[in-house]
Amino acid sequence: MRKILVIHGPNLNLLGDRESEFYGTTTLDEINQRISKLARELDCQVEFLQSNHEGVIVDAIGSSKGKVDVIIINPAAFTHTSVAIRDAVSGVKIPTIEVHLSNIYNREEFRSKSLIAPAAVGQISGFGVNSYLLALRAAVFMVKK
Ligand code: DQA
Repeated sequence: MRKILVIHGPNLNLLGDRESEFYGTTTLDEINQRISKLARELDCQVEFLQSNHEGVIVDAIGSSKGKVDVIIINPAAFTHTSVAIRDAVSGVKIPTIEVHLSNIYNREEFRSKSLIAPAAVGQISGFGVNSYLLALRAAVFMVKK
């Protein structure tokens, strides 16, 4: 069975009433439920991690080697700052898809640079909750059963 790890970075635990003009009103629990429902339809297993701590995310990526087939990550603010998460993604060689709820290219200038993207297979940005669902479909396309 295909295994996919979904990582949500800092402040995504606040979704629902956090800057809803950018991120919508869906809570993180609801997003995870939508992902789980699609995972059942696509016959794959998903695990979730949300952390506000860079090191926890680096550890989770590092310890996933050999355990998951694909990582889907919304690195949130760490997208724009974290060499450590980029190096973890490059280091484990697990195909990784970067996801953003908002379009990081039509907001503040500093958001248009992702340190993670060069280490990822690809990036899906700007489709709200559907960014995660599109990423899950892409993950399943990449990995055969
Ligand atoms: C985000 C975009 C980031 O710039 C921001 O720091 C976030 C959320 C998104 O999903 O649109 O926290 O990753």
